[in-house]
Amino acid sequence: MHRIEPAAAEKLKTWFAGYVSRYKTGDKVRDHNILIKEQHTWNVCREICNLSEALDVDENGRILAEITALFHDVGRFEQYTRYGTFLDRASVNHAGLGIEILKENRVLDDLDAHSREFIYRVIEYHNTAFLPSDEDDLCLFFSRMLRDADKLDIWRVVTEYYHREEGEKNNAVELGLPDSPGVTPEAIGNLMERSIVMAEHIRNLNDFKLLQMGWVFDVNFAHTRREIKRRLYMERILDVLPDSEAIRRIAGVIREELNRRD
Ligand SMILES: [Fe+2]
Repeated sequence: MHRIEPAAAEKLKTWFAGYVSRYKTGDKVRDHNILIKEQHTWNVCREICNLSEALDVDENGRILAEITALFHDVGRFEQYTRYGTFLDRASVNHAGLGIEILKENRVLDDLDAHSREFIYRVIEYHNTAFLPSDEDDLCLFFSRMLRDADKLDIWRVVTEYYHREEGEKNNAVELGLPDSPGVTPEAIGNLMERSIVMAEHIRNLNDFKLLQMGWVFDVNFAHTRREIKRRLYMERILDVLPDSEAIRRIAGVIREELNRRD
């Protein structure tokens, strides 16, 4: 892998900050949602650096990982501006859009073609339900790091939101889902099988919370499981779900998953 110098990485961060600033219009609700994704990006950069350290990744690997984090959601700003939503299935795949934006703006032109393609692939895989089976191990490793780092910060965003003291409902965070009672049985079924919740089973906000809990079954590294426990992410989602026998059983399998040894 070609070496990315720290100065080159700094230049990319500066480009990103300038790029995002173009999406702030002065409209309070819109700017707030742009800011959520900007803040999320910087946090995922930090999460992936911490994860790299926990996994003993060398400095070059850490910088490369950080670049994938920096650009993983670069498509979000254009997605939100064009469609007013972060829901991919109602708009566009934000990973693909992000890659297009990087290409159009020739953002990675200072890197060699191999590193550039590598970064595009890791971005492409960050939001798929499953990783491809026909990828090389290094790309899969970096994709796993990005997916864990991304989830760690999404859990922050949603748990802070569910426990907000004030502030209104944010349809962009809730993806426009209705806050209706009950949960979809198929979502419960996925979790009882220790699987992630399939997107087609998401019908209300409770299902969306179950989907977020189910991400523990897609976590790749022990460091991530430790952080989930330390930050009480699952407890904070359970707090805002209805209390039922099914939910208590889900809490049990989630706890088992987080405590499993690997
Ligand atoms: Fe994303």
